[in-house]
Amino acid sequence: MNQTLAIIKPDATGNGDAGRIIAHIEAAGFVIRALRMVTLTEAQARAFYDVHRERPFYQSLVAFMTSGPCIPMVLEAESAIRRYRDAIGATDPAEAAPGTVRQLYAESKERNAVHGSDSAENARREIAFFFSESERIG
Ligand code: CMP
Repeated sequence: MNQTLAIIKPDATGNGDAGRIIAHIEAAGFVIRALRMVTLTEAQARAFYDVHRERPFYQSLVAFMTSGPCIPMVLEAESAIRRYRDAIGATDPAEAAPGTVRQLYAESKERNAVHGSDSAENARREIAFFFSESERIG
């Protein structure tokens, strides 16, 4: 069993898709170990996406991620990181496989409904970014 950090992003919460996305994730076999709703400050969004600070889309990404509530979640499953990335599909919804979360709910490469950790090291960092140890026991 391992864990990954998922985020339902402001486009999806704003569209009223959060419940459907959570149901999709649970139906795909993930156990939700922690969940909260939070509207990120600019400093929090900048810090979370610090690895992208040199990218041309960074400012726009920070503006998008602070534009409404996010729902970060700790998901657990066997090979959770790879399996969750398979379940959400490619970053660009136009390239996401049929039936994936992004193919079903994302609007664009930036407004792409959900985030998923891309490595074990980043999963640890991202889980700790949103949840204290006492919030993710189990
Ligand atoms: P995420 O999986 O959260 O990781 C980084 C985010 O940056 C990504 O989802 C998108 O929201 C955004 N992103 C990545 N590439 C691009 C791009 N080419 N243009 C705009 N936004 C992007």
